[in-house]
Amino acid sequence: MCGIIACRAFEPAPGYLVAGLKRLEYRGYDSAGIAVSAADGTTAVFRTISRVDSLTGLVEDWDGPLLAGTGIGHTRWATHGGVSVQNAHPHQDCEGRLSVVHNGILDNADRLRAELVHAGHRFSSEVDSEVICHLVEDRLLDSDDLLGAVSDAVAQLTGSWALVVLDARTGRMVAAAHRSPLLAARSAAGIFLASDISAIGDWVDEFHILADGDVVEVTNDLVWTNSGIPAVVPAPIPRPPRPHFSLTVEADDHMAAEIREQPEAAARLLEEVGGRIATGELWNDLGLPRFDRMRVVACGTSLNAGEVIGSALSRLGGLGHSSVVASEAAGSVVEPGTLTVMISQSGETADVLRALEEGPEGSPVLALVNNVHSTLGRKVDAVLSCAAGPEIGVAATKTFVCQVIVGTGLVISSLVASGRMDVARAHRLVNDLYLIPEQLAEAAAAARALLPPLVEEVRGAKGFLFLGRGAGVAYAAEGALKLKEITYRWAEAYPAGELKHGPLALVEEGTPVIVIDDDDHRLAGNIAEVRARGGRIITIGRLGSSVEVPLSLAAPCGPLAAVVPLQMLALGLAVELGFDADKPRNLAKSVTVD
Ligand code: AGP
Repeated sequence: MCGIIACRAFEPAPGYLVAGLKRLEYRGYDSAGIAVSAADGTTAVFRTISRVDSLTGLVEDWDGPLLAGTGIGHTRWATHGGVSVQNAHPHQDCEGRLSVVHNGILDNADRLRAELVHAGHRFSSEVDSEVICHLVEDRLLDSDDLLGAVSDAVAQLTGSWALVVLDARTGRMVAAAHRSPLLAARSAAGIFLASDISAIGDWVDEFHILADGDVVEVTNDLVWTNSGIPAVVPAPIPRPPRPHFSLTVEADDHMAAEIREQPEAAARLLEEVGGRIATGELWNDLGLPRFDRMRVVACGTSLNAGEVIGSALSRLGGLGHSSVVASEAAGSVVEPGTLTVMISQSGETADVLRALEEGPEGSPVLALVNNVHSTLGRKVDAVLSCAAGPEIGVAATKTFVCQVIVGTGLVISSLVASGRMDVARAHRLVNDLYLIPEQLAEAAAAARALLPPLVEEVRGAKGFLFLGRGAGVAYAAEGALKLKEITYRWAEAYPAGELKHGPLALVEEGTPVIVIDDDDHRLAGNIAEVRARGGRIITIGRLGSSVEVPLSLAAPCGPLAAVVPLQMLALGLAVELGFDADKPRNLAKSVTVD
């Protein structure tokens, strides 16, 4: 995973690199580093296992030669080798001439490392990326051409990479990409490269995306090649409007802000798409063929959203659906007439991209993403935005809500367009969708008032169970996922009826059992079974629940408002336990390795 950035700018590079890295921290925050060309023909390297911000202090303390406008930067999610300054990027060759940042995984790193060590190279980290420095170093023994050396070096790699090599001796800089995102952009401020437009969007108006195999030298311009042959610079893509990339990186509590923003995000989305649902336009505008069943492919929270959307298709339209964990999609059978819906907030999740690559030819794929310019958004037959705006907290919140709303809208729209639902019913369902912003706000108010003593009560619990029935099951799964990822407590989600088939054995005196109570009459029995064993029942939902939230039983998305107290329970507990909810341990916002 990891995020990379590079610049050849007219102002000193550290300002750009650190600002850009702060916006890439969602790709990993185990360590960060920059390498900057210095006036004396050397490269100054700054690395830290603290947050990106601390690089500023390191640069301020620098008393070496003047730092120039050319540099590279990296924020890391550890794959090979532990979290240490030594393993932080940029990495260097034996002589400290070359500095390299890399995002991706090199499958043949062990073999290459052994060969390079045998040839006399000295490694100083455990990281797979370091082989790139030594491979390029080797190639430069034959010629001083960095572009050719990098092209030769990447030809020896297998795996994935977005990388930039900076040569201190010549000041030259070369980038390459293969199955990891990298984009390049020119502007009056200079030339910039980054994993994501959010990192450089303040300084450029348009950008070009490197294709697999591209190797690009950054001179005063962009010299584009592929497999050693000059290539045409790809067509520029306009930078998305500022609200779609500009991150409020200054906020110190992103998850809380993103939860608070949910009613507004939902209202904004409905204003954008609401009028096109019941007319069938939302579906028709995608230009996809009629389908008879839906197959959702996604990971984590996006998979939970997919389960809600797929259930809506079955409930409202009587069509079948299946949900497939993206990393396991390779073996799944795709029957004729299936629409595959790939859901991903980032559109960069490697497991989803791999599932797309390995999926059957000719079967239509729709992507539901938060960034239509993402790799997934660009590669599918049609793309729909969940338009939630930037989400920084690692735990997905407002994007989940927006995925559910637009996905359900899409289901209704497709049913109308295919003549399976009459327009009057569709209008009634859309009216239900319009109630969601208010319901989310009411749920948040109830949670704010009622959750604090409950959080206090369960703060010592080692494990939690989350239960639901029918449409509530996916929300129970989402509640358990939120709790796990930001409080580091075990949490399991089950259809309530399944409890007695095994998980009930986990319940002991005081075990918190969170129930999404959408008034399914069978829940009472399941709750009684838990209470009889001393479990601490917390209900979220209908009148009389521990936390009451507005639910409309016929709601096309099921008990969506219940997700707000679930998110706030996880956040409240994380804060109570002293954890950084925005950056939970071991995780990253965007999982770009498989
Ligand atoms: C959500 O809280 C998690 N951080 C995680 O499960 C996430 O939903 C998953 O990695 C999928 O990411 P994507 O939506 O960007 O593909």
